[in-house]
Amino acid sequence: MKKSVRKAVIAGNWKMNKTPSEASELIKQIAEKAEGKNGCEVVLCVPFVDLCAASDAAKGTNVKIGAQNVHFEEKGAFTGEISVSMLKEVGAEYVIIGHSERRQYFGESNETVNKRVKAALAGGLKVILCVGETLDEREKGITGETVSVQTKIALLDVDSEALKNVIIAYEPVWAIGTGKTATADQAQEVCAKIREVLADKYGNDAAEATTIQYGGSMNAANAAELLAKVDIDGGLIGGASLKSEDFGVIIDAAQ
Ligand code: 13P
Repeated sequence: MKKSVRKAVIAGNWKMNKTPSEASELIKQIAEKAEGKNGCEVVLCVPFVDLCAASDAAKGTNVKIGAQNVHFEEKGAFTGEISVSMLKEVGAEYVIIGHSERRQYFGESNETVNKRVKAALAGGLKVILCVGETLDEREKGITGETVSVQTKIALLDVDSEALKNVIIAYEPVWAIGTGKTATADQAQEVCAKIREVLADKYGNDAAEATTIQYGGSMNAANAAELLAKVDIDGGLIGGASLKSEDFGVIIDAAQ
């Protein structure tokens, strides 16, 4: 199985941007750009409070909606948290788990990432699992080890059937929001490593069928080169997903 048969997925991570009314407006603009572009799946991961408005705005378009985090318990005394069933009821199909900003600022660990991944999959959400090394880890030469450990722990007790609903996003922390993109060769090397980790655990066929995205300052100018790489099947895009023109160019590059 080769890249051509994997699903290309272009996902926007809006982070803490856009109110519900702004979200509706931007989704309408992006949906126009995505119309008829069936060569990739287009997903927008919006703030929790935007989910209702976003789902409404995306109805009848080929834009799918996702959240940016989820708690692993079903319900209870977890002030400020949101469960899988809550997300599903407001139209989320996807959820980002383990983003480096959650790991860096909100105490997310490989273990809690694993709990969230299992809960999301059990509840019927598709998962965009983020892994990636810091600049320090890259400079120490432990990029491969870092993403391997993150991937392995995140996928503990996730079987090959459940893996079909997992996308892995390789996001080098030093490339996020910095304007510093990994070169296409650097990104390809790590995405291939992640596929190797999947092959070890699930076998070649499952590894070859898994969508692996690159994220980190992906934009209208560099998307085509990154997406042309054999193991890069899509993008997880921050800043450029907030501009419909730029995001439209990235969607086109994935066709
Ligand atoms: P930027 O595209 O803004 O660098 O953000 C990448 C990212 O963190 C997506 O999850």
